[in-house]
Amino acid sequence: MVALRQSDMKAIAAATKTIAGMFKEPATYSPAEFKWAADTIRDKSGEVLIAHFAAAASDPMSKAKPNIVEERERFDRLANDLRAYATALDAAAHKNPAVMTESMRMKPGEPMGGGPLGTHVKNEAQLSSIPAEHAFHLMLQTCATCHSRFRMD
Ligand code: HEC
Repeated sequence: MVALRQSDMKAIAAATKTIAGMFKEPATYSPAEFKWAADTIRDKSGEVLIAHFAAAASDPMSKAKPNIVEERERFDRLANDLRAYATALDAAAHKNPAVMTESMRMKPGEPMGGGPLGTHVKNEAQLSSIPAEHAFHLMLQTCATCHSRFRMD
C-alpha cells in the first residue's frame, strides 16, 4: 500500500499547486477547478490518510518514519486537520461561484502564523469564518508539520 499512499500524496500535492496558482493569479480562479482540487485533498485526507498508515511497517520504498505508530494521535490529528482545511476550501468555492472575491483573500496584516486559531483546527465553524486563503496557508503548515515529524528527508 506504500505505492498507493505515495500516489495519493502526489495527487494532494498537485491539487495544492492548483489552488496556490489561483491565489497567486486570482483572474485564473475557476470555482469548479478550485472545488475539484479541494475535494481531492479532502477525500484523500482524514480517515483515508490515517488508514494508509495504519501499519506503517518499515518498507524500503517508504519515507514514512516509524514514529507514526508511537505518535498515532498526533499523526491522526494532522491528517484530520488537513481534511478540515480542505473542507473549508470546498465551502469557499461554493460561496464564490463566479470570481475570487475579496472575502476569499487574506487581509493585509492578517497574521499568517495561525492567528487566533493556532495551527490546530479548533472547530470547523471557526474555520469557515476565516478567509479561504488563510485556511490554505494553515493547510500548508499542516503539510510541513507532518512531514517534518513523520517523513524522512
Ligand atoms: C498527517 C501527515 C501528513 C500530512 C498532513 C501531509 N503529508 Fe505528505 N506525506 C506524509 C508521509 C508520511 C509521506 C511519506 C509517505 C511514504 O513514502 O510512504 C508523505 C509524502 C508526501 C509526498 C511525496 C510522495 C511520493 O512518494 O512521491 C508529497 C509530494 C507530499 N507528501 C505532499 C503533501 C502535501 C502538499 C500536503 C499538504 C497539502 C501533505 N503532503 C500533507 C505525511 C503527510
